[in-house]
Order: sequence, then structure tokens, then C-alpha cells
Amino acid sequence: MSDLAIELKGLTKTYGEGALAFQALKGIDLTVKAGEFMMLIGPSGSGKTTLLSILGCVLSPTSGEGYLFGEKLHGRKEADLPGLRLSYIGFIFQGHNLMPALTCEENVAFPLQLRGYSHKAAIAEAREVLDAVGLKDKFKKLPDDLSGGQRQRVAVARAVAGKPPLILADEPTAALDAETGMQVSMLLKKLTTERGHTVMVVTHDNRIFHLADRSVFIEDGLIVPPSAAH
Ligand SMILES: Nc1ncnc2c1ncn2[C@@H]1O[C@H](COP(=O)(O)OP(=O)(O)OP(=O)(O)O)[C@@H](O)[C@H]1O
Ligand SMILES: [Mg+2]
Repeated sequence: MSDLAIELKGLTKTYGEGALAFQALKGIDLTVKAGEFMMLIGPSGSGKTTLLSILGCVLSPTSGEGYLFGEKLHGRKEADLPGLRLSYIGFIFQGHNLMPALTCEENVAFPLQLRGYSHKAAIAEAREVLDAVGLKDKFKKLPDDLSGGQRQRVAVARAVAGKPPLILADEPTAALDAETGMQVSMLLKKLTTERGHTVMVVTHDNRIFHLADRSVFIEDGLIVPPSAAH
């Protein structure tokens, strides 16, 4: 595996076609070393979710080059994306996106089973990461029976389970109060540092900026130097 987690050169993304075309990313150059804990900061509409979606193998770039641990992101068939996503990515959303009918351990185990884990091995790994996020006594609870912070901790556990090399988080604290948001962010940092994941967190939450090894600023589809960021 490459020791560069992310390498983007002149990456663009255009939504739609013809008169309706909109260029959301206008030539992103970015290199992230394996093991870095990054924050991606920028105003609404600047392209953060678009960039995360390309890194997360949800969307393909329109032009330019992108590499994830040496694997090409550009010029891939649509059908390649889910496999890449399962191998490389753990995703944490703004809302927890847990499945309400599944228990916490089943929510964490489910993506592992998609990756080929047996039910037994998936549940064992799920319990280990739920324990690591402080939810040892909640394995069998449904998401509705947890607090917002606990649900987001399950989402953190689900993202890191099975050790995908890159964890992407799109405003993971947006639905939480300040103190809970800070606790979840510190937990995410601690767990991913211990386990050696590379992390990119999109956030507006300036209280958590200091957790980043490096912050990258995006405006109007381009990476800008910190001094130029608004
Ligand atoms: N599916 C789509 N079709 C057309 N335009 C889109 C689509 N998704 C996003 N856009 C546009 O691309 C631009 C970047 O959107 P994106 O969601 O990446 O921004 P963002 O930085 O995540 O914003 P926010 O902070 O509000 O979540 C916006 O102008 C948006 O309107
Ligand atoms: Mg967004």
C-alpha cells in the first residue's frame, strides 16, 4: 500500500450537463499522508461533500487524477466503486444514519458482513469497537434507545470496524450539542490515531479545529491557503 493516503491532481467535478452544468470542484490539488488526521473547512456550497463523495468512492471525478492508497479514482467504471468503498472507506455522516430496526452490534456488524466477514466474526469485531467507544453495555440496544451522543459513537464504531484505512466524516458533530460534539470528536481522534487510520473530517465547528494534524481550506471548488480563507 502507498504511504500516501490521498493524492489529487487537478481534480474536477461537474454536476449536470450543457446549460445546467455546474462545476463544484475546479481543480483540487491535495496530498495526504497515511495516518494524518485532517480537517476540511469551507463555506456552504464550497464543495466539501462533493470532495468527500469522490474520496469515498460514491461519485467519480469529471477530470484530473485521484489516487487512494495508490488506487486510481479517476477513469473507473461505476461498477468498481462499491468494492473500492468497502475496502478503503469508513463513513460517518452528519446524522448517525443507523438502521433503526437493528441493534447497535448489528448496525456495526452489517458493513463487515458486506465485506465478507462471517456473522460470528462480524459480531465479535462489532463488540470490540463498541467497547472501545464506551458502549459495552449497549450491544443489544436499538438506536432509538440511545442518546444522540451515544448514537454518534455507534456511528464512529461502525466506521472504524474492520479497520478501513480512510475514515471520512461529513460534519459529524453538527447534530450534537457543543460538549457532546467535543467528546465524540476527541473519541474519533483517539481511536483513529491508536488504530492508524487516515481521517478527513468536514466541519464548521471551530471548537474542534485544534484536534487536526492539518486543516485544509476549500472555497468555491478550490483549495485555498489558510491566510486567504474566510
Ligand atoms: N447533485 C448535484 N447536482 C447539481 N449541483 C450539485 C449537486 N450536489 C451539489 N451541487 C452543487 O455543488 C456545489 C458544492 O456542493 P457541496 O454539497 O459539495 O457543498 P458543501 O461544501 O458540502 O456545502 P454544505 O456546507 O452546505 O454541506 C453547490 O453549489 C451545490 O449546489
Ligand atoms: Mg456538505
